[in-house]
Amino acid sequence: MMSSVVTRVPVFAANWKMNKLVREAPEYVERLNALLGELYSALSFEVLIAPPATHIQSVSASLQGLPIKVAAQNCGTARAGAFTGEISPAVLKELACQWVILGHSERRHIFNEEDSLIASRLRAALEEGLNAVVCVGEVLQDRKAGKTFKVIESQLALFNSAKGAFQPSLLRRVVVAYEPVWAIGTGENATPQEAQEVHAFIRNWLSEKVSPEEATAVRVVYGGSVKAENSGQIMAQKDVDGLLVGGASLDPNTFAAIIKNGLKTRLPGAPI
Ligand code: PGA
Repeated sequence: MMSSVVTRVPVFAANWKMNKLVREAPEYVERLNALLGELYSALSFEVLIAPPATHIQSVSASLQGLPIKVAAQNCGTARAGAFTGEISPAVLKELACQWVILGHSERRHIFNEEDSLIASRLRAALEEGLNAVVCVGEVLQDRKAGKTFKVIESQLALFNSAKGAFQPSLLRRVVVAYEPVWAIGTGENATPQEAQEVHAFIRNWLSEKVSPEEATAVRVVYGGSVKAENSGQIMAQKDVDGLLVGGASLDPNTFAAIIKNGLKTRLPGAPI
């Protein structure tokens, strides 16, 4: 019988948002690497740091030779052109940035980014060869009204309009992040069961709209008030493949503890 063991590589992302000075970046990278160094050789997992765009070059330079990757917090809808204030995905590549976070709830709610705009950004990012963490999540009002799945489903449809994103080779470069808006920066995380329920819904949706193979391969990560105290329980859920961490990722010691606790439950018996 063929083994049904799922081999999705866990991924942990630190979203710095609009925090830290450029000169603080190298020390953070050095510390994180010192804390995770030995684990890299023993286990298979990915770590991303998403600093403000102004810090990418410095973070990339500090990361040279390390397995940690740098991610941008957004990107433009084209390689170049009259788009004041936007950042070209081609330039991100030039700065050794391989990942970009798109559709974060702060972009959606503070800056009114809609699914159609996020889809254009995703298309441009994928065309440029970047990997993308695409965020979805419901606000509290939707959850209370029992509309969580409806909202998630309508947000997932952006893959449809980001031409080509459904192609298996491209979709494998996408990580879906479930970030309930009511849990972001509030200290109130979704329970592991609540997270699992939505993650399973997302995987099911991918299975129906794309293919069962892609649904099995694509990673779905959780974000929203993740801390060292809850990362293990959340990562113990079978459809949770990683974590997108905001506030608690600003301290490399805390971020490393989140990763270690998460890996302990995800990879039982691993030497952590
Ligand atoms: P938080 O943010 O961990 O501070 O809740 C998560 C995110 O916005 O990605």
